Amino acid sequence: MVEALVLILVCFCSEFCTSTDIITSTQYIKDSETIVSIGQIFKLGFFTPVNSTNRYVGILCNVSVVTPVWVANRNKPLNDSSGIVTISEDGNLVILNGQKEIIWSSNVSNPVANSSAQLLDTGNLNLRDNSSRQIIWESFQHPSDSFLQKMTIGTDAKTQESTLLTSWKSPLNPSVGTFSVGVEPLNIPQLFVRNGSHPYWRSGPWNGQIFIGVPSMDSSYLNGFNLVDDKEETISLTYNYPSDQSYLLYLHLNSEGLLQQKIWWFGGKEEWEVGCSAIEHECDVYGKCGPFGSCNSLESPICTCLRGFEPKHMNEWSRGNWSGGCIRKTPLRCERNNSVNDVGKKDGFLKLQAMKVPDFAELSSATIEDNCGSLCLNNCSCIAYSYYIGIGCMQWSGSLLDIQRLPSSGVDLYIRVAYSELGNTFCLLYHLVVNYAPILTLKKIKNTYPLFLCV
Ligand SMILES: *[C@@H]1O[C@H](CO)[C@@H](O)[C@H](O)[C@H]1NC(C)=O
Ligand SMILES: *[C@@H]1O[C@H](CO)[C@@H](O)[C@H](O)[C@H]1NC(C)=O
Ligand SMILES: *[C@@H]1O[C@H](CO)[C@@H](O)[C@H](O)[C@H]1NC(C)=O
Ligand SMILES: *[C@@H]1O[C@H](CO)[C@@H](O)[C@H](O)[C@H]1NC(C)=O
Ligand SMILES: *[C@@H]1O[C@H](CO)[C@@H](O)[C@H](O)[C@H]1NC(C)=O
Ligand SMILES: *[C@@H]1O[C@H](CO)[C@@H](O)[C@H](O)[C@H]1NC(C)=O
Ligand SMILES: *[C@@H]1O[C@H](CO)[C@@H](O)[C@H](O)[C@H]1NC(C)=O
Ligand SMILES: *[C@@H]1O[C@H](CO)[C@@H](O)[C@H](O)[C@H]1NC(C)=O
Ligand SMILES: *[C@@H]1O[C@H](CO)[C@@H](O)[C@H](O)[C@H]1NC(C)=O
Ligand SMILES: *[C@@H]1O[C@H](CO)[C@@H](O)[C@H](O)[C@H]1NC(C)=O
Repeated sequence: MVEALVLILVCFCSEFCTSTDIITSTQYIKDSETIVSIGQIFKLGFFTPVNSTNRYVGILCNVSVVTPVWVANRNKPLNDSSGIVTISEDGNLVILNGQKEIIWSSNVSNPVANSSAQLLDTGNLNLRDNSSRQIIWESFQHPSDSFLQKMTIGTDAKTQESTLLTSWKSPLNPSVGTFSVGVEPLNIPQLFVRNGSHPYWRSGPWNGQIFIGVPSMDSSYLNGFNLVDDKEETISLTYNYPSDQSYLLYLHLNSEGLLQQKIWWFGGKEEWEVGCSAIEHECDVYGKCGPFGSCNSLESPICTCLRGFEPKHMNEWSRGNWSGGCIRKTPLRCERNNSVNDVGKKDGFLKLQAMKVPDFAELSSATIEDNCGSLCLNNCSCIAYSYYIGIGCMQWSGSLLDIQRLPSSGVDLYIRVAYSELGNTFCLLYHLVVNYAPILTLKKIKNTYPLFLCV
């Protein structure tokens, strides 16, 4: 009797107690089995999405709700439970179906005879060469739809290769959907969600600590991003929130293109809580109000033309179709032929406060705020500027797109308009040189720097 019990325990244990975090060519896993990271935070195994019959291999959070944060055979599901995950003869991590056909492979081209895969507590699956201990492949470099802490997404400027998150097609289909998230290095780094090639959401520029177009990043909640831009080769973003084991937190791009923070409290409600979301309001959708339109989530209608601008297509605009945007009411001085009447009627800037700055900012060489404005005014192709500590002097040409009046935080944005559009609040350049001093107060100025004032 006792012997039988011991025997049962031994059998039971050999199947369930010897949990490991490693897969090797001999120590492979079958459909019903998992490997578990050493701190039991993540596991790797087979799963079926809700309402689906397909089997996928993924890395899942070790919580009571099936939560895949990475999927191997996204585009090639198994149709039964005969699959295994193992190391192939050439050292690759592979998924085989019941017929021993390769369904998925880590596809490392340099074959190594001896390798093993280990699942870490970060959720990263590492494939290592046993003899050199070198990592030859890792799941963090091939993300699915989840941005886990310590993971890095980025762009290699030389090869133009990007590490992106890609959404699922639908909640029941992990194959690659239309949405992606990536860091884009053009001029000043920004985080983008794209729908195919179209921008769907934009973070605004990185200021060295946060993305300045995301109000919720001002709170400590979203601190933990770190962006490294070596200006020549790579730009990379890491998410590293200090964690204290009482919760699990990651960013998830769902199949509708929403980038959301998801939190699981251990010992809590046994469900995922959604924290901040990239798109909290319609105004957060890229280019909602079209060129030269500005979005304000606290107003109705949400879209208005920037001051000095009017709707391009009045009928569409008043119907709530804002995509056509706005056009300038009065041409800038630069755009007109110089005539006698123009003397002293130099363009000026309107100051807009608490703004999400437009897309396509260019960095100017100006090192102080006053210079930023004067350089812009004296350059006909410059139509707006903003000076922000941590970034410097941003200038825009062409058209201004994806502007928002933010409910909190935001920056000062200066828009160039014709002299006649300058209302009560405007900014003019004062300078010693007569040419640059369109109006009054010459005598007040003694220094040789151009001075930029808003009155
Ligand atoms: C799964 O199917 C049920 C019943 O058809 C439906 O109510 C539910 O919304 C489905 N879930 C998903 C995630 O599609
Ligand atoms: C997963 O977490 C549970 C607690 O939620 C724990 O009891 C279990 O040992 C962990 N490991 C596995 C493989 O489920
Ligand atoms: C499952 O897939 C295998 C190939 O991987 C195929 O031969 C088989 O017919 C499929 N079975 C079903 C029920 O679709
Ligand atoms: C691996 O390579 C094969 C052949 O080049 C390709 O069909 C397959 O999609 C690749 N798999 C992955 C996961 O990249
Ligand atoms: C694999 O490594 C083991 C020791 O870790 C060694 O004994 C064996 O010869 C190696 N096999 C190959 C093919 O290199
Ligand atoms: C490779 O290393 C792992 C872990 O150290 C070990 O379990 C496995 O047997 C090794 N594989 C070979 C082929 O030696
Ligand atoms: C994404 O793009 C597709 C195809 O252009 C479109 O049908 C869909 O409405 C877009 N989704 C969103 C949320 O904009
Ligand atoms: C919205 O207006 C644009 C012109 O600005 C037009 O091309 C487009 O068809 C309109 N869309 C709808 C849904 O009416
Ligand atoms: C500006 O000058 C050009 C030729 O220099 C002339 O063709 C054009 O009509 C003028 N435009 C206006 C608005 O005066
Ligand atoms: C004028 O501004 C444009 C756009 O901001 C910029 O590309 C160009 O280099 C500037 N020209 C000069 C001479 O500063």
